[in-house]
Amino acid sequence: MTNKKFYITTPIYYPSGNPHIGHCYTTVACDSIARYKRMQGYSVMFLTGTDEHGQKIEEKAKEQGVTPQEYVDEIVKNFKKLWSYMDISYDRYIRTTDDYHVEAIQKIFKELYDRGYIYKGEYKGMYCTPCESFWTSSQLDENGCCPECHREVKEASEEAYFFKLSPFADRIEKLLTETDYLQPKSRATELVNNFIKPGLEDLCVSRTSFTWGIPVTFDPKHVVYVWVDALFNYCTALGFQNDAHNDFDEFWPADVHMVAKDIMRFHAIIWPAMLMALDLPLPKHLAVHGWITFNGQKMSKSLGNVVDPFILGERYGSDAIRYHILREMALGADSSFSNEIMINRINSDLANGLGNLVSRTVAMVDKYFGGTIPSERELGDFDDELISCALSLRDKVDEFIDQTQINNALAEIFKVISRANKYIDETEPWILGKNETKKARLASVLYNLLEAIRISTTLLSCFMPKTMPKIWKQIGASDNDISYENATEWGVLPTNVKVCRGEIIFPRIDVEKEIDELNKIIGSNAKEEQADDFTPAPVGEQISIDDFAKSDLRVALVKSCEKVKKSKKLLCLQLDDGMGGRQVVSGIAEWYKPEDLVGKKVIIVANLKPVKLCGVESNGMICAADTPDGAASVIFPDQSLPNGSKIR
Ligand code: MSP
Repeated sequence: MTNKKFYITTPIYYPSGNPHIGHCYTTVACDSIARYKRMQGYSVMFLTGTDEHGQKIEEKAKEQGVTPQEYVDEIVKNFKKLWSYMDISYDRYIRTTDDYHVEAIQKIFKELYDRGYIYKGEYKGMYCTPCESFWTSSQLDENGCCPECHREVKEASEEAYFFKLSPFADRIEKLLTETDYLQPKSRATELVNNFIKPGLEDLCVSRTSFTWGIPVTFDPKHVVYVWVDALFNYCTALGFQNDAHNDFDEFWPADVHMVAKDIMRFHAIIWPAMLMALDLPLPKHLAVHGWITFNGQKMSKSLGNVVDPFILGERYGSDAIRYHILREMALGADSSFSNEIMINRINSDLANGLGNLVSRTVAMVDKYFGGTIPSERELGDFDDELISCALSLRDKVDEFIDQTQINNALAEIFKVISRANKYIDETEPWILGKNETKKARLASVLYNLLEAIRISTTLLSCFMPKTMPKIWKQIGASDNDISYENATEWGVLPTNVKVCRGEIIFPRIDVEKEIDELNKIIGSNAKEEQADDFTPAPVGEQISIDDFAKSDLRVALVKSCEKVKKSKKLLCLQLDDGMGGRQVVSGIAEWYKPEDLVGKKVIIVANLKPVKLCGVESNGMICAADTPDGAASVIFPDQSLPNGSKIR
């Protein structure tokens, strides 16, 4: 048993709908790293799970007429089914409704309270007794009265617990700026500028407006804020503050937390602060990736643009899907999902590149040597180049895996595969095969190809675990031949290795036919634009560029957001527009919860005349697109754009 430990986690997923390709990215990426580390000899703990509390779940369950527990139990089954389908080799699965986690969170909340980091405070506002509603002063009508019933309001407050964030601001700023905790670094700068520099406000960590959560033991009408409940999963799953598990001392701190950009603020600011408050060591790395987008939007259930991994997997195999999403996503950037790009990649890399290399090599061993390579050898041109390219691969992949740059690790592996295909063209085995005196040279060429395949597929097996064993069978590799150690050795396959011709590993796909099929199945509206159709469709009255220039469109950051009381449709957003700030009311409450928007950049029309909506003043408009099913989909510009950037 090795004493090298490695602990990697995905976020725990909200089971507020079934999982989609967007959810698969982090899980498949962490799975590949976990497999790689196991291959390197680490004792690995790979954790994933589901984040099952909160108002959204309570509401969804109510809509379906079931209890929240029944609701999550059903969806969690689908998450687990997908993970098994995608060959996710997690070591532990946590559900935040697990008893041990619930009890641990209650202890943790109490501990933070006893240490003085959680305190009971007041959520202050103006209260309208007849409407039983709280209003902020900016929401009141022009007479300072209730915007709904226009009667007098009085100052009032509601109790809530708060977590003190400010004592940790300096340490967190150093963590983000002076260490490589958060990758990529550009994201760290964004967080420091947007959240730490303006001053960290204490975080409200309890709720009394719904009950589907973990009750605060010493004040049970409060439930613990879902993010406190969720973030500590990384510790409770190892046995922190509970007896269900016993691995905390062994595996904490985590080596890698991997998350997408929308939740990095929680992982880069709030999470370290809470760990500091408990004097616990901080995770070593936080790797932040972008979103898988579809037609430029984050893939999500509420936008109806989800791609079903089961449908794709049925058609191309789960390994091809794993490969495609890992290869497409560069750390830090978004990756746009398109059926066409996916199919072309499967064809070029997997069918033409890897599949072709394997089938050509095995077929030639069969044809020229009846399946068994003879032991006479003759070295020749190009051998050294192929061998050194293959033998230097493992170090490069190691480095990229340590930097969670999986796309680059895969690119390196495919360079060796391309090199091997080129070696076939250079050495021309079909000509060697015609000449009896060249049999020893031919044997060397084919053996070298089998070795290059062995090395590249050994490393590739962490990313595509289902298919590589099929290739090993075809090239005659035994279990002992396949190991991390052997990936830097040449001559591991037996001298007289015997191959075994088999099925085509990655059949070539007819792109056009397949896109049609997929569009039918998925009902996708994402028909690729005809390249030769340059005439835009008529879209209404045409305007000049000067007319357009009258609109002042700007990038703004959503600092806070709340529902407009008594309105089902309106959200009230406080924005940092780079020009002193403003309040905007937007009719998007049916599709977005306030927490979906806080911390995001949006595009606003900044020079609209102010209006009052439900009595609340609005200074501008949030830009959103109509979705095919009549919903509004907010346009989120790149988070790194400065507040106030003008859009032209
Ligand atoms: N429950 C919280 C996480 C708590 S961790 C202590 C949560 N859950 S989530 O299900 O909404 O999202 C989980 C992860 O999946 C997040 O990192 C989220 O960004 C990621 N993704 C969801 N859709 C995605 C894409 N379309 N593309 C890439 N990742 C996406 O947040």
